[in-house]
Amino acid sequence: MWAVEHGATGAFVGFAGLLRQEDRPEGEHETEVGWRLDRSFWGQGLATEGARASQRHGFEALELERIISITVPENAASRRVMEKAGLTFRGETSWRGYGVVWYAADRE
Ligand SMILES: CC(C)(COP(=O)(O)OP(=O)(O)OC[C@H]1O[C@@H](n2cnc3c(N)ncnc32)[C@H](O)[C@@H]1OP(=O)(O)O)[C@@H](O)C(=O)NCCC(=O)NCCS
Repeated sequence: MWAVEHGATGAFVGFAGLLRQEDRPEGEHETEVGWRLDRSFWGQGLATEGARASQRHGFEALELERIISITVPENAASRRVMEKAGLTFRGETSWRGYGVVWYAADRE
């Protein structure tokens, strides 16, 4: 994951980036894009910007075939970020005891 800094001020905003864990719900070879931002920076499109930059790195530099993202169903803000960043809803599953929804973007 990368640290996110505000472009104009250099302030620390949170993190965004790619992570890979062996117990992903949808296949062992898939990489997740994720984000977590300080509340005072919400609502400015920064999570979406971070998600897009992370995916660009994943597809162009790392040449990944698929990037997924998961969240609990009620996390409407993150689901909206996923959609704005070009991921599409693929289904419901469970991960570490939680019911989650998962989204994905494919290289092509
Ligand atoms: C999710 C999070 C990163 C969003 O950050 P952000 O920078 O505000 O996101 P963006 O501004 O890029 O986009 C948020 C979108 O969600 C929408 N949104 C926000 N709250 C919402 C809600 N309760 N219901 C529906 N939509 C909501 C916004 O309107 C915006 O969509 P729009 O551009 O179409 O209006 C931030 O809420 C966060 O850090 N949450 C805690 C950590 C977390 O949930 N991480 C993800 C775990 S899977």
